[in-house]
Amino acid sequence: MKTLLTGATGTLGRAVHALLAERGHEVVTAARKNADITVDITDPESIRAMYEKAGRFDALANAAGWVPWKPFAELSHADVLAGLAGKAASQVELVRQGSAYGTDEASFTLITGVTTRDPILTGSVASLANGAVEAFARAAAIELPHRQRVNVVSPTVFTESIEAYGDLFAGFEPVPVRLAALAYVRSIEGHQTGQVYLV
Ligand SMILES: NC(=O)c1ccc[n+]([C@@H]2O[C@H](COP(=O)([O-])OP(=O)(O)OC[C@H]3O[C@@H](n4cnc5c(N)ncnc54)[C@H](OP(=O)(O)O)[C@@H]3O)[C@@H](O)[C@H]2O)c1
Repeated sequence: MKTLLTGATGTLGRAVHALLAERGHEVVTAARKNADITVDITDPESIRAMYEKAGRFDALANAAGWVPWKPFAELSHADVLAGLAGKAASQVELVRQGSAYGTDEASFTLITGVTTRDPILTGSVASLANGAVEAFARAAAIELPHRQRVNVVSPTVFTESIEAYGDLFAGFEPVPVRLAALAYVRSIEGHQTGQVYLV
């Protein structure tokens, strides 16, 4: 199975890469640097170039996405748009364009996070963008052509990242990033569509 993995070099991407490789996938990595294919998922032309270079694939797995973390009172309109571009429009574009490049059974696996359902301070744009992605996936699942599928992995904070986030996730139980990677396997190798996998 050929899997194109965007955001392959990050904490989550590395774990997804390792697990897919263990399971015999041919993994083509993509990121802005240090990957098989250079891509900026916020740039639709860069996404098109990535798909042209990667060729037909069985699965697109995305592990990239950026939002600004700022107190609500300090948020600008530009911050809101940047967060939507960095995490929501980017992932919508991966599916919108990718549908033409994937096989008839291709799957798309997107990333959100716990803030959709469990808000934290400074996370209002994260909640906004994550909610948008989850709603999009449910809707796209009933319109994708052929037998193509789309699911979302929505993890809580990773054990491996808890220090980086400081007290933002106080009282949350972290999960090992490998559990999030397992949800990617469920999405890619399973048959479900329109699902949000809570990890
Ligand atoms: N860490 C957590 O605890 C956690 C928990 C739940 C959900 N999440 C979500 O999981 C996703 C990944 O988190 P992470 O902690 O693994 O992040 P990370 O370690 O910073 O990795 C991000 C990855 O995405 C790539 N990337 C970033 N911006 C990109 C762009 N515009 N175009 C293409 N590639 C890009 C990075 O490589 P380059 O910089 O080379 O492009 C890197 O490979 C995020 O959306 C995050 O919100 C994380």
